[in-house]
Amino acid sequence: MTNPIARIVVVGATSAIAQHTLRAWLAGRDASAHLIGRSESRLASVEADLRVRFPGSTFSHEAVDLIDVEAIERVADHETANGDPDIVLIAHGSLTSQTDSQKNLRAASEQLIATGVSPALWLEAFADRMTTGTLAVIGSVAGDRGRRSNYLYGAGKGLIERVTQGLQNRFEGTDLHVVLIKPGPTRTPMTEHLAVAGARLADVHLVAEGIAHAVTRNKRVAYVPRRWGVIMAVVRSIPAPVFNRLDL
Ligand SMILES: NC(=O)c1ccc[n+]([C@@H]2O[C@H](COP(=O)([O-])OP(=O)(O)OC[C@H]3O[C@@H](n4cnc5c(N)ncnc54)[C@H](OP(=O)(O)O)[C@@H]3O)[C@@H](O)[C@H]2O)c1
Repeated sequence: MTNPIARIVVVGATSAIAQHTLRAWLAGRDASAHLIGRSESRLASVEADLRVRFPGSTFSHEAVDLIDVEAIERVADHETANGDPDIVLIAHGSLTSQTDSQKNLRAASEQLIATGVSPALWLEAFADRMTTGTLAVIGSVAGDRGRRSNYLYGAGKGLIERVTQGLQNRFEGTDLHVVLIKPGPTRTPMTEHLAVAGARLADVHLVAEGIAHAVTRNKRVAYVPRRWGVIMAVVRSIPAPVFNRLDL
């Protein structure tokens, strides 16, 4: 079933994928959107851009420490005080160097918290306060199987997957829907270094269209682009003795 959209909350709203997903939603209808992130100046510039693109919609923004538990609870309280948002999209994450994180536990900790723990806490905070609407979070194909090149980032995404599975089980049969999005490699500022190295990356517009579609249709899990569902089924099925010899 397609949800009507009147009010959207985006956590990690400065993300390129989140911005393009918002644009996909607002291209079809006017709505209000509250943009949450860690940088006041970056949020203000995202909001200014959206105001020009979508004059019929209304926007606000709020800079908070995305890993501060009290801030998460305060924002979730405020955003649900006068009724549930139609969509909450949680989009932030941090892809830093795996080898740097292996050598520096502080970097590893920051990556795990920014990519896994913080989005999980935002999910919990909204799940506990909402009874209707859609709670969507951006995971990754990297969360499907640990591999040497990005397993700490993947572990953060795997944590999100377990939380969304639990929430989907908890809210089954209710009017609150929980959606896990798993993009494949996509061209955004996060992957600029991969683009420079010649990696094949999906177009962010197409990925955002896929996310907007999956969220409004309350898909439980959506790989975007869809071919990644097949690719990851193969990757998950490779026996460990073979998989561990691959340089992935
Ligand atoms: N691009 C891909 O290939 C790909 C593939 C699968 C999944 N994803 C996921 O898609 C989501 C959006 O990423 P994107 O591709 O749109 O990249 P992006 O444009 O670089 O956005 C990253 C977002 O995460 C925030 N962020 C980064 N480090 C943070 C930290 N330590 N604490 C709090 N927030 C932090 C950024 O905030 P600031 O603007 O304040 O820095 C920004 O909002 C992420 O969850 C990412 O893991 C991306």
